[in-house]
Amino acid sequence: MSKPILKLQTTTLWDYPSQHYKRSMEPESKFPGATPAYVIWNLLMRFTKPNDLIIDPMCGSGTTMDVARELKRRVIGYDISPVRKDIFRADARKTPLENEKADFVFIDPPYSDHIHYSDSDDCIGKLSALKDGYYKAMQSVINEIYRIMRFERFMAVYVSDSYEKDKPFMPIGFRLFSMLCDIFTPVDIITVARHNSTLLRNNWHRAAAQHNYFLRGFNYLFIMYKTKMQDKKQEIPDRRDIKEKEKQVREYNIKKS
Ligand SMILES: C[S@@+](CC[C@H](N)C(=O)[O-])C[C@H]1O[C@@H](n2cnc3c(N)ncnc32)[C@H](O)[C@@H]1O
Repeated sequence: MSKPILKLQTTTLWDYPSQHYKRSMEPESKFPGATPAYVIWNLLMRFTKPNDLIIDPMCGSGTTMDVARELKRRVIGYDISPVRKDIFRADARKTPLENEKADFVFIDPPYSDHIHYSDSDDCIGKLSALKDGYYKAMQSVINEIYRIMRFERFMAVYVSDSYEKDKPFMPIGFRLFSMLCDIFTPVDIITVARHNSTLLRNNWHRAAAQHNYFLRGFNYLFIMYKTKMQDKKQEIPDRRDIKEKEKQVREYNIKKS
C-alpha cells in the first residue's frame, strides 16, 4: 500500500497514517515511543531553512537527525542512552553546546515512567509525572533549550498526557505548556492524531469502555518562539513566506516520485 503524498499540514489537527513518510508502508519503528517522521518534516519545512543547525537533546532512535539530514539541515542529536554511533551521550539538563547556537530545537521527552528507555539513573523516563521530580527535571530541560537557542528562533515539544488505571489523571501537556510560556512566546498548539499499533488492540478499547477511561488518541505539539528580548513576550514571530515553503514541498515531492 502506498502512502498519501506528504504535504504541509495546514490545520491544527495533524494526521498521517504512518510512522514514516517514505513510499512503502514500513513497519512501525522498533524504538519504543519514536516520533512520527512527518511531524518533524512539517516542523523543519516550516520553521527552518537549509543549513540551519537543528538540535534534538533527547533524540532516541534519531528520527530528527534522519529528517534533518534529508532536508539538508545540520543536526546534532543527544540522548542519555544513545542507540546509534552518531548520537552523543548527554543529559538534556546539561547539553554540551554553547549559548545561542541552535536554529531550531525539537524534543519528544518521556511522558511519565511507563516506558523503559534505558537503565541510566539520569533517564527522566524513570520519573513519575505524579510527582514533582518529573516537572523539576523538565524545567531544567526547558531552561537548557532556551540557553542553547538563538534569538528569534522556534522550538517544538511533542508530548502526551498520561493516564494509568486506578491512578489520578496526569495533565502533563498543560503543565509543560505553562512552563514553556514562562520563557517562550507561544506560536501554536497542534493536536497530532496517534496511530500507534497499541491503539489497534480491541481488548484495550474494551477495558477503556468498561472501566470508563480514555486511551490517548492524540499528542500535543507545542510550537514556541524565543524573542529577542525576554520582556517582549508579545513580539510577533517572524513566520517564513508560505510560498517559499510550498515551493520546497513541491520540489521535494518531485524528487521523491
Ligand atoms: C520519547 S523518546 C524520544 C523519541 C525520539 N524522538 C525518536 O524519534 O526516536 C525519549 C528519549 O528521551 C531520552 N532521555 C530520557 N532522559 C534523558 C535525559 N536526562 N537526557 C537526555 N535524554 C534523555 C530517552 O533515552 C529516550 O530516548
